[in-house]
Amino acid sequence: MWIQRLFIAALLPVAAFSQYADVGTQAHQLRRQSNPDFALTCYHCEVSVLNFKDCNSTKACEQGNQCLLREMMSTVDGHHDYLMACGTAYDCDGGEMPFPVGKRDVNRRNIAVSCCSNNLCNTPPPPTTVHTDPAACMRDVVLIVQDSRNLTSTARRVALKAMLHGIVDAVHIGTDGALLELSFIEGNKMNHQWDLDHYANKKALQSAISRMNPDGHGGVVDINATLTYIRDVALTSRNGDRPNVPNDIIIMVESQIHVNASSFQGWNWTEQELRKLSGDVIVIEVGTNEGNDAHQIANLATDSNHVIKVADYLALQNISARLVSLLCS
Ligand SMILES: *[C@@H]1O[C@H](CO)[C@@H](O)[C@H](O)[C@H]1NC(C)=O
Ligand SMILES: *[C@@H]1O[C@H](CO)[C@@H](O)[C@H](O)[C@H]1NC(C)=O
Ligand SMILES: *[C@@H]1O[C@H](CO)[C@@H](O)[C@H](O)[C@H]1NC(C)=O
Ligand SMILES: *[C@@H]1O[C@H](CO)[C@@H](O)[C@H](O)[C@H]1NC(C)=O
Ligand SMILES: *[C@@H]1O[C@H](CO)[C@@H](O)[C@H](O)[C@H]1NC(C)=O
Ligand SMILES: *[C@@H]1O[C@H](CO)[C@@H](O)[C@H](O)[C@H]1NC(C)=O
Repeated sequence: MWIQRLFIAALLPVAAFSQYADVGTQAHQLRRQSNPDFALTCYHCEVSVLNFKDCNSTKACEQGNQCLLREMMSTVDGHHDYLMACGTAYDCDGGEMPFPVGKRDVNRRNIAVSCCSNNLCNTPPPPTTVHTDPAACMRDVVLIVQDSRNLTSTARRVALKAMLHGIVDAVHIGTDGALLELSFIEGNKMNHQWDLDHYANKKALQSAISRMNPDGHGGVVDINATLTYIRDVALTSRNGDRPNVPNDIIIMVESQIHVNASSFQGWNWTEQELRKLSGDVIVIEVGTNEGNDAHQIANLATDSNHVIKVADYLALQNISARLVSLLCS
């Protein structure tokens, strides 16, 4: 029965689903023969929304439809948005967009499509913290953040801290788990905040994160100094690096970063050093309009999956889970 219903649902076109309009008559005949299903009411907006709460129009769906939630990511600036609609089995299976897409929907990549069968169920689940098996994330994590003037804003600092709290919350922190070290890049100076083994439990590390503050001096970043620092200071046993524990490196910069051109000289060897130091080099880019310098820094990442682009600092708070899965995998 279920199979049959699914089959019929697959043939039922949504009105706007023009490419299937020609099977409409047939579908109507089939539907008349089928047992009436309960028609669902779903959130239904014909444009994608940044915040799912902005889609507050609902629709009584065609019989056999489910409520669909499609999460998409912009390939331009990495922001996520949602499409909420009545969905056919075809849509729920990851088929085409149920509406002609508007201009703002180009450059989107589907992240997830989910369907459900309760009234108004097509909203994202409440954010859950990912909890990993302690042993699954034994890592020395070195985080290097560009100390931008933009970070003098409290809201942006709060978002940065929220991202860090989210990571630390999700993993076991300790000498038998993950350790995290933080430094800011200020021009050609590395502003070291704490060693890897300085805060070897979750509570201490979370409170250090709450207290930390970039001073917002900014400056032109010296990339050679940064990478040399990672190799010669951050990941040394003096700084708490555990020799047999894999290293993760996170470099966070703005998309409009300026790198001292002469410091690019040290680039090619440092990049190879970096590969030796860590199999997980993650680059976080904040801002739209990637400049050439940010593009070169993004090339340091292990691969394109290890480049996370967010539209602004405020979006950082939403990427903890993604970071954890990269860090701990
Ligand atoms: C529906 O969403 C729009 C756009 O976000 C908003 O202006 C409006 O107040 C919302 N209506 C209700 C009833 O929530
Ligand atoms: C760039 O680096 C060179 C060599 O280290 C240094 O002399 C120069 O002052 C730096 N420029 C800036 C703008 O920081
Ligand atoms: C890179 O930085 C290191 C350490 O500061 C320095 O010794 C080296 O000369 C620099 N290389 C270049 C090409 O600037
Ligand atoms: C790095 O670049 C210099 C200058 O372009 C070149 O001579 C050298 O062979 C390169 N080193 C590596 C390891 O690619
Ligand atoms: C940083 O500040 C500048 C100047 O106010 C602004 O144009 C830019 O968008 C900001 N960048 C980010 C990533 O917030
Ligand atoms: C990040 O998450 C917050 C809270 O869930 C939300 O209000 C905000 O729109 C999200 N920002 C982005 C850029 O995704």
